[in-house]
Amino acid sequence: MALKIVVSIFILALPFLTASNSDSADTWRCGIFFAGNPGTSPRAKIFVLPKKFPADCNAPRVDTYNGTCYEVMRKGLKEWNFENPSRIRKQSGHTIGDDLCGPIPRDIKAPGLEMGFYFAYCGSDWNDTGLRKPERLCCRQRKHVPC
Ligand SMILES: *[C@@H]1O[C@H](CO)[C@@H](O)[C@H](O)[C@H]1NC(C)=O
Ligand SMILES: *[C@@H]1O[C@H](CO)[C@@H](O)[C@H](O)[C@H]1NC(C)=O
Repeated sequence: MALKIVVSIFILALPFLTASNSDSADTWRCGIFFAGNPGTSPRAKIFVLPKKFPADCNAPRVDTYNGTCYEVMRKGLKEWNFENPSRIRKQSGHTIGDDLCGPIPRDIKAPGLEMGFYFAYCGSDWNDTGLRKPERLCCRQRKHVPC
């Protein structure tokens, strides 16, 4: 599973669709969301990896989907830094954090928004891997600021 795909997550980070399930029959998927409380549904979608992995829906291997999603995302996390240059507005001095804050109309103060990693399989809702990005996101006037 290419790290490239994971790293490019923040390129497309935006439209904040609601966190409905978006896998289809016989597949499972992995994505990054604004997190809810541990073990509950996420609050809003940031990006779902385009790859759909095969799943046997008669005998779903939930632990495998969970573990694979966790591992893929954990590796990618090292590359993700809110201070890195925007992938959307390259020449502008914007950062990835700015890309994430851009669509959020209200200021986000400390403790900030938490980002988490979720998987869905065989038409299920999104399930929590338990993995969170350690740094939280704070925004002022649609720009990223330290929390
Ligand atoms: C996945 O999420 C759904 C909806 O929140 C929940 O009903 C289901 O029990 C979860 N599955 C697992 C394996 O946690
Ligand atoms: C995924 O695995 C983690 C760590 O093993 C566990 O805490 C979590 O409950 C699992 N999630 C689901 C939906 O099974």
